[in-house]
Amino acid sequence: MNPKEVTIVLDPVKCTGCGLCLAVCPSDTLSIINGIAVITGENSLSCGHCMGVCPSAAIEVEAIDNEMTSFETFSLDKKWLKYGGFPTTDLARIIASRRSCRNFKNNPVEPEHLRDLIKLAVFAPSGTNSQAWTFTCLSSRKQVLDFGITIKNFFQNLNKKAENYYFRKGLKLVGIKALDTYYNEYYSSVKEAMDKMENQGIDRLFHGATACIMIGSGPQASCPKEDAMLAAGNILLASHTMGLGSCLIGFAVEAMKADRSIQEKIDIPKAEKIHAVIALGYPDETYKRITGRKKPIIRFK
Ligand SMILES: Cc1cc2nc3c(=O)[nH]c(=O)nc-3n(C[C@H](O)[C@H](O)[C@H](O)COP(=O)(O)O)c2cc1C
Ligand code: SF4
Repeated sequence: MNPKEVTIVLDPVKCTGCGLCLAVCPSDTLSIINGIAVITGENSLSCGHCMGVCPSAAIEVEAIDNEMTSFETFSLDKKWLKYGGFPTTDLARIIASRRSCRNFKNNPVEPEHLRDLIKLAVFAPSGTNSQAWTFTCLSSRKQVLDFGITIKNFFQNLNKKAENYYFRKGLKLVGIKALDTYYNEYYSSVKEAMDKMENQGIDRLFHGATACIMIGSGPQASCPKEDAMLAAGNILLASHTMGLGSCLIGFAVEAMKADRSIQEKIDIPKAEKIHAVIALGYPDETYKRITGRKKPIIRFK
């Protein structure tokens, strides 16, 4: 299907011609002709703004799957929350209470929680509303552990290459600085972590997580990384409200970027790219208080 195909269905009987749908449409898909809305544009982002704004429920967008607003672990009030309609203090508390969890219990995460997290993830904005993200779930500790071992092997191999002074300096001489930079900045800490995994069985990559969601993009994505990270943000916050701990695992993303065979091992098609890997599980840690952040550079002009 053409991603810009117009799948809007208008009910001319219900339409009152108020024009609200035109005002929110980013693609100029609709016009008012003879007092009712009609489709005159050739493209649509299928964002559903027209459907959401119509006071007469005269619009359906067929590309939108109604299943995606139906959740298994909670029910969604589908009445749109007006601007200012939710206490900032509650949202701020969720945002500030989310922490990267690095101690997980052994309990598995229920698949319905993973499915609901993915449905919440795709409410994130995406460039040109391409929604070209993919979600790959590992839903048992064994799967996460096996995946972690693959990532560990990648870093052990990388460390072996980086240890070779002549190899990394030779690469640097021909303009390839990445291995030398890696050696200077990460080699020692990665070595320590991988040794702990290898010799003491301490999971320094996934922290004992019992589930994992990998967010990738298909070739149609216009802003693949940004879309994935925004979807990830939703998952991190929502998992906290579900009683789950979460942690982004950048090491896994880096390994999968550098060695494309890793994703093949877990049957992720070659055409996809993974941008975010999130460890999930029931947390085995609690905090007493919300802490702050470093002061960022802020400019008002
Ligand atoms: C892109 C990205 C990659 C990250 N990769 C890892 C990782 O591989 N392992 C890990 O334990 N934490 C990882 N983190 C978590 C950060 O260390 C964490 O967000 C930061 O220390 C702030 O702590 P907080 O999330 O608890 O507020 C990553 C975070 C981001 C945004
Ligand atoms: S918002 Fe609804 S009622 Fe108003 S013009 Fe569009 S389709 Fe018709």
